[in-house]
Amino acid sequence: MDVKKVMVVGSGTMGAGIVQVAAQAGYSVVMKLHQNMERGMKIINGSLDNQVKKERITADDKNKILSRIKLTTAWEDAADVDFIIESIAENFDAKKEAFEKLDNICRPEVIFATNTSSIPITKLATTVKRPQNFIGTHFFNPVPAMRLVEIVRGLKTSMETVLTAEKVIHSMKKDTVRVKDVPGFLVNRINQALRNEAYNCLTEGVASVEDIDKAARMALGHPMGPFEVADLVGLDIGLEVLRGLFESYKDIKWRPNMILEQLVESGDLGKKSGRGWYDYSSGEKKPRSDVKF
Ligand SMILES: NC(=O)c1ccc[n+]([C@@H]2O[C@H](COP(=O)([O-])OP(=O)(O)OC[C@H]3O[C@@H](n4cnc5c(N)ncnc54)[C@H](O)[C@@H]3O)[C@@H](O)[C@H]2O)c1
Repeated sequence: MDVKKVMVVGSGTMGAGIVQVAAQAGYSVVMKLHQNMERGMKIINGSLDNQVKKERITADDKNKILSRIKLTTAWEDAADVDFIIESIAENFDAKKEAFEKLDNICRPEVIFATNTSSIPITKLATTVKRPQNFIGTHFFNPVPAMRLVEIVRGLKTSMETVLTAEKVIHSMKKDTVRVKDVPGFLVNRINQALRNEAYNCLTEGVASVEDIDKAARMALGHPMGPFEVADLVGLDIGLEVLRGLFESYKDIKWRPNMILEQLVESGDLGKKSGRGWYDYSSGEKKPRSDVKF
């Protein structure tokens, strides 16, 4: 299928990033807003301004990219699109409502892609009458900078849908990996396993938070250590992901670490709350002096 027009449902952190890379790839893009939220355009403008400042694109390029984006709150605008990427809040009922509406409006050959991080693609595909056209396209944050997209095939996803999705994602200058529809998909599973093992090492007294991060940076070549990443993502979000993996696999290796649970219970959620594995209350990242891990 020749994809020309793309719709992105959701205008938050990820939706805005996907709209931007699709428009930069030359697609005509409809950004479906929830209740007239304008946050998405602000994110896109900021990101493109940054690219102009770094001389990656010109001011003229920026205007051309913006001219390809149409904002709407009307589901009816999905009637003539070829490819839909849903990126609304991580909630099955909200996504179900969106896909059921789209299913009634879209052309028969449309492809439904979802950016869900944790809801099974096979389950989400039951919300439309054409599960063969349904696929997971899992982008990473921040979308314009991260090069990989996981292509997740549900039980009934057709190979034609896989190939079309890959073609579209490649045209956005992203690379892809094909992944089975399992909890955590591939990247989050590897990432959580590493983070959980870092928590275990801390609990067993193998090394300190700072030294575990230092080891990951200096020996494994990671740009950030597992505790630094956990603080950036938010400990509450990380805990939810772990609980989801534990619940799905029933494997003790995914059991959330007790210190992590205590930190979340005490309101220390990472960078956003000023304290997590590190203390950010002074505006800089410092080891915690008030608690001993
Ligand atoms: N943030 C990440 O790092 C990341 C990475 C990969 C995938 N994801 C996935 O991307 C999706 C979006 O995440 P995000 O971080 O952009 O979230 P966000 O909170 O920044 O944006 C969510 C968007 O959904 C809209 N929305 C909320 N409730 C809705 C409803 N009931 N109906 C329709 N729209 C609704 C909001 O208005 C907003 O536009 C989620 O499925 C998430 O799991 C997130």
